[in-house]
Amino acid sequence: MTPVSRSGPRLHLRELQHDDADGVFAIYGSPEATKHLSFEPRTEDQVRGIVQRSMDSARDVPRSEYAVAIIGPERDLIGFGRLAHDPHQFRAATMGFALRPDVWGRGYGVETVRLLLGLAFGELDLHRVWGARAPGNTASARTMAAAGMVEEGTIREHIIKGGRWRDSVVHAILEREWQAGCG
Ligand SMILES: CC(C)(COP(=O)(O)OP(=O)(O)OC[C@H]1O[C@@H](n2cnc3c(N)ncnc32)[C@H](O)[C@@H]1OP(=O)(O)O)[C@@H](O)C(=O)NCCC(=O)NCCS
Repeated sequence: MTPVSRSGPRLHLRELQHDDADGVFAIYGSPEATKHLSFEPRTEDQVRGIVQRSMDSARDVPRSEYAVAIIGPERDLIGFGRLAHDPHQFRAATMGFALRPDVWGRGYGVETVRLLLGLAFGELDLHRVWGARAPGNTASARTMAAAGMVEEGTIREHIIKGGRWRDSVVHAILEREWQAGCG
């Protein structure tokens, strides 16, 4: 489905566009925002590449990835979200999200996850969405829990960061849970 567009009480989710690269760099280039993510801070060039690849993937048929911009009340890009169909599960996707550090702590994280889940269980008709966080990422744990996602367990030594293996904690929500609680 293209283009995607959804609004919440304060935020708006839309497709990425070329001039979003600076906004995404403010997040993916930030050591603070990427501290618990699976990768080191990205360079501006890398971010431009991510935005371009995301825009290209939006034209894939069938589309398997939804990398989107989260727009704040001031109409600037404050976040980056991603749903990617899981090739190993039927009607399932992994979810990722990150916001610019200066807007943390205002409830935008929970609204962002709800917008992504609304897309997943609405337009995309998925059955299950899961996200993986670093064990020390309390903000992410509480954000996903507040959006109705259940902590399911730990994937041991899931990713390598800084040359060291790191566990991931999995949170997930099923379609019926979303419909019952949050939809
Ligand atoms: C995770 C993130 C999106 C949260 O965004 P946010 O706008 O600050 O979150 P909210 O204001 O909606 O708060 C959501 C919950 O997290 C809690 N929280 C937020 N920051 C926290 C922190 N630093 N420590 C502990 N709890 C925190 C809030 O208290 C709230 O919990 P509650 O509903 O139980 O009160 C943001 O911290 C971020 O972008 N982090 C970097 C990227 C990242 O880690 N993404 C997740 C990858 S799995």
